[in-house]
Amino acid sequence: MTISHKLVLFIGLIDIATCSNAYNDFFDEELMLKPLSSDHVYAYFQFTIIWETENRVETLQHSHLFPRGLGEIIGRHNVDELHVTLTEGLWNYQKWGYPFHDAGPGAEVIAWFNKDITNIEEEWKGLTNALAGLLCASLNFVDTSNSMSPEFTFRLTSVTDRPVNSSNLRYSSLPREIVCTENLTPFKKLLPCDSKRGLAMLLNSAHIHNTNYHSIGIHFRSICRNVACTMTSLELRQTVSLIYDTMVDANQDWSIRKFFGMGLKGACPLATLSNIYVDISDNNTNHIYELMPSPSTKIVSLRGGQQNEIAVYDIRAHSSKGIFNIATVHSALKNNAIYYPSILYANRYIIGYGQERGSLVTKLYNNHWQALDIILLENIPWYLLVYLHSITITCNEQHVRPLAQRYLPGRERKSPYYLELILRLPPHSVTKIIIDMDYLFLKWQEYPPDANHGFYMGPAIITALLPIARNYTALPFDGSTITSSFNASRDDYLIQLRTESLLISLPTPDFSMPYNVICLACTAVALAFGPLHNISTKRLILKRIEKDWKGKLFSFFTGKLFEAKKKQD
Ligand SMILES: *[C@@H]1O[C@H](CO)[C@@H](O)[C@H](O)[C@H]1NC(C)=O
Ligand SMILES: *[C@@H]1O[C@H](CO)[C@@H](O)[C@H](O)[C@H]1NC(C)=O
Ligand SMILES: *[C@@H]1O[C@H](CO)[C@@H](O)[C@H](O)[C@H]1NC(C)=O
Ligand SMILES: *[C@@H]1O[C@H](CO)[C@@H](O)[C@H](O)[C@H]1NC(C)=O
Repeated sequence: MTISHKLVLFIGLIDIATCSNAYNDFFDEELMLKPLSSDHVYAYFQFTIIWETENRVETLQHSHLFPRGLGEIIGRHNVDELHVTLTEGLWNYQKWGYPFHDAGPGAEVIAWFNKDITNIEEEWKGLTNALAGLLCASLNFVDTSNSMSPEFTFRLTSVTDRPVNSSNLRYSSLPREIVCTENLTPFKKLLPCDSKRGLAMLLNSAHIHNTNYHSIGIHFRSICRNVACTMTSLELRQTVSLIYDTMVDANQDWSIRKFFGMGLKGACPLATLSNIYVDISDNNTNHIYELMPSPSTKIVSLRGGQQNEIAVYDIRAHSSKGIFNIATVHSALKNNAIYYPSILYANRYIIGYGQERGSLVTKLYNNHWQALDIILLENIPWYLLVYLHSITITCNEQHVRPLAQRYLPGRERKSPYYLELILRLPPHSVTKIIIDMDYLFLKWQEYPPDANHGFYMGPAIITALLPIARNYTALPFDGSTITSSFNASRDDYLIQLRTESLLISLPTPDFSMPYNVICLACTAVALAFGPLHNISTKRLILKRIEKDWKGKLFSFFTGKLFEAKKKQD
């Protein structure tokens, strides 16, 4: 080995040594298991990467834990904040409380672009196309005809140097999107340990896609590194929300192995924090269970007058003894005598008959003893013509005036109808919003192959600040780990909830008609063809008739007469 070789090797070693310290990034993996009052268990995975870099997002190419593919997309399209969710199933707010991250059915993308971007439409198109490739989802169907920039519903949570308004925001939802294994695999590839080590090992598609509800999400933003916010870090949060049914087991026992098909083999070696939390606040007199193994610590979380007891397991401490499993053993079965529905929930449906016109009804339920202010965002596709003058908002037979209203009529094939209302819901009330609409007759190529299936309409979004944290699990915006959210009491708790997505049957032409016409026409032609062909191709030839034809005819008639006479006798 020559001197220069040695030198190169030496410099290389220095490089490796400095590089490993140069990346100020860390990775946390967490799993929260929360038994719900309705015989379900909510499993929430959160994988957080915090990167303490002063780099602008444009230079996200040299990363350590941060997934480079996603970093490049975010950098290239100048995105300040990004939320992508893929969801299957409907979250039941009434029975399950509020999720950590709310997501509408199908695919949903929310992006805030940098203030300096001028051609946002182009960047939005590029971003959704790139994300479609990254996540194997049909996000490339996002375009101006199904995107909007709501003014009140979404707030930028990312740190920016200058204020940004909603003209830099794009929101789109694709309720028709079906979420499947092919989306989960690229999602797991973004994690530092892939699905080979750590909590991500539990994410087996066979055990995720048979849940009552599952949602995967990617959330990117920049956060303050210190209290004064002189420095910022980049935060990437990957989340998985699952709802498992525990009724299948007679004694209601559940365990990690039962839910995910396997125990846990160990923590991800790159993670600084690998924790499992179990919310054991529902362990009371009429529902007693033990946790196996018993937790290393129990912590009390106090938030908005709500006290929860949480068992904490550090995976590292347990997994040294082999495969690790958390199981519950019930000694008293749950009875659902006490049941408080959530404070605020909503539902939506269509009334009217026929395929010509109908009305959209949104019902908002306030179970609180105080009035609640909410923001309602309606996102109505362009093929449902909405008439704003027909809107009626009633509560206990009385008309309600919205505190504020934003409306942008849709344009055919260009933009959706955008309606945003700020309403004050009286205490213990049901508020009903009805708006009339016409169903448009589309061009024949615009119908999907299964035209009679109907068309999906995305959910309405309701945003509110709850005064108490009952049934609230959502993370406050300043906490990146689940633990940091436990004692985060504040004046009000931001929630967002989505209504059902609707299936509407638009007037559909009878696509089987051409087929019927062809069949009929062919039959008619076939029937007419034979005689016509005969007439036109066969020659008529005069035939010589034999002399005795008279005799034959005569004998025939006399025979008949003879028979008739016989009958009369
Ligand atoms: C809401 O919280 C209360 C009190 O903590 C609990 O008794 C109730 O079951 C919860 N309801 C739902 C729907 O989670
Ligand atoms: C947002 O800001 C831009 C430029 O600062 C301004 O032109 C636009 O009117 C603002 N939009 C709204 C909805 O306030
Ligand atoms: C549930 O409560 C019972 C009795 O109050 C107690 O013995 C048990 O340890 C509790 N279970 C858990 C998981 O804390
Ligand atoms: C939350 O506050 C309670 C009461 O002050 C305390 O006992 C508990 O340890 C705190 N929990 C956390 C996670 O800091």
